[in-house]
Amino acid sequence: MEDKRPIRELIACQKSGWSLEQRFYTDPEIYKLEIDQIVMRNWIFAGHESELAEPGDFKVFRVASESAIIVRGQDNKIRAFANVCRHRGSLVCLEDSGNTRKFECPYHAWVYDTEGQLVGARDMAEDFRKEDHGLLHVSIESVNGLIFVCFCDDPPSLDSAKRDLAEPMAMFDFQNLKVAATRTYPIAANWKLAVENYQECYHCAPAHAEYAKMHTLMLDKKKIDRVQNHMLEKMPACGLKKYHYDFTDTEAPKGQQGYAYSRTAMFEGYKSGSRDGEPVAPLLGNLTDYDGGASDFTFGPVSFFLAYSDHVVGYVFTPVDQLNCKCEIYWMVRSDAVEGKDYDKDNLVWLWDITTHADEKIIVNNWAGVKSRYYRPGPFSGMERLENRWISWILQELRRAPSVTS
Ligand code: FES
Ligand SMILES: [Fe+2]
Repeated sequence: MEDKRPIRELIACQKSGWSLEQRFYTDPEIYKLEIDQIVMRNWIFAGHESELAEPGDFKVFRVASESAIIVRGQDNKIRAFANVCRHRGSLVCLEDSGNTRKFECPYHAWVYDTEGQLVGARDMAEDFRKEDHGLLHVSIESVNGLIFVCFCDDPPSLDSAKRDLAEPMAMFDFQNLKVAATRTYPIAANWKLAVENYQECYHCAPAHAEYAKMHTLMLDKKKIDRVQNHMLEKMPACGLKKYHYDFTDTEAPKGQQGYAYSRTAMFEGYKSGSRDGEPVAPLLGNLTDYDGGASDFTFGPVSFFLAYSDHVVGYVFTPVDQLNCKCEIYWMVRSDAVEGKDYDKDNLVWLWDITTHADEKIIVNNWAGVKSRYYRPGPFSGMERLENRWISWILQELRRAPSVTS
């Protein structure tokens, strides 16, 4: 029988510690709420400043039905604009990236400069003011070189994240990374299943033989403690006094974007996330040793980073529509590393390319079952506690929607 409970009731009935009720994935009304309350109201990772090194360098970043042009202006400042023409709303920029002095709308050829101002519009009325028709701004902020955008005018503050993550980010010198490779993985599933999957490693042992060989996160909590020792011995070399593998920092004060940091050791003998465990790029920042550690950073609900001693992998999961999402992955190395000499692109992307392809398959299978009339929520294991926490946060944000509270 069709579940017709109001969303407020559905949220109230959701059992803590269990996977979500089917309608959270299949109900178009809930999807719309998620877009308004969550996806458009939080910061989303959109690339690294090094991708836009020169004035006029731009890239287009798409999330659900939104598209933003991120561009370095002639004044060297990076801005983000809605990719929506102020004439009659066409997409203005149809390319994914490039360098330009102006953006010309493909419909009636209105022209905007790289600061978003309208500089050309033919045959308009005499009192038409170009200055009133510049591209609309999308919120943008940089955190040590990482570019985040938010499709709302009053985004949460990133100050707490910046402050608390300053030390570990400095260790890897995020500011001086460059993007060595990017790939986009389309996933035919509701976006939440993709994020949920990223947040738990219960599936790592059965699904990711390559990852599970090197990453201790596929172990349960007690076993992780035992395998950290070899990293602990080397930690002073990496500027770390303590480590923690629990995402205890996720709770951000009100008005602040949520964030998290953890560091774990890989199995002994592994220095990086690579085919043979050997480094695939020069050491990052001021690190003096490959200590066998890997650090996880979380910014907001859909952006994650895994920092090895020699490269950082950035992951961002965004909806395309209710039934489809994508995972965009960035492989970053130190900015002065030279391709072919200091790193090989195929070696660099190997682990997370095969792992993400495997994830795509299991997420799509998960989606097929979640849509079935026989789907029932199931209980989480101890290794799915971060996923459980993420779900609780999603429910809390949905509960705040005026249409849900009223
Ligand atoms: S819609 Fe862009 S110029 Fe008309
Ligand atoms: Fe996975």
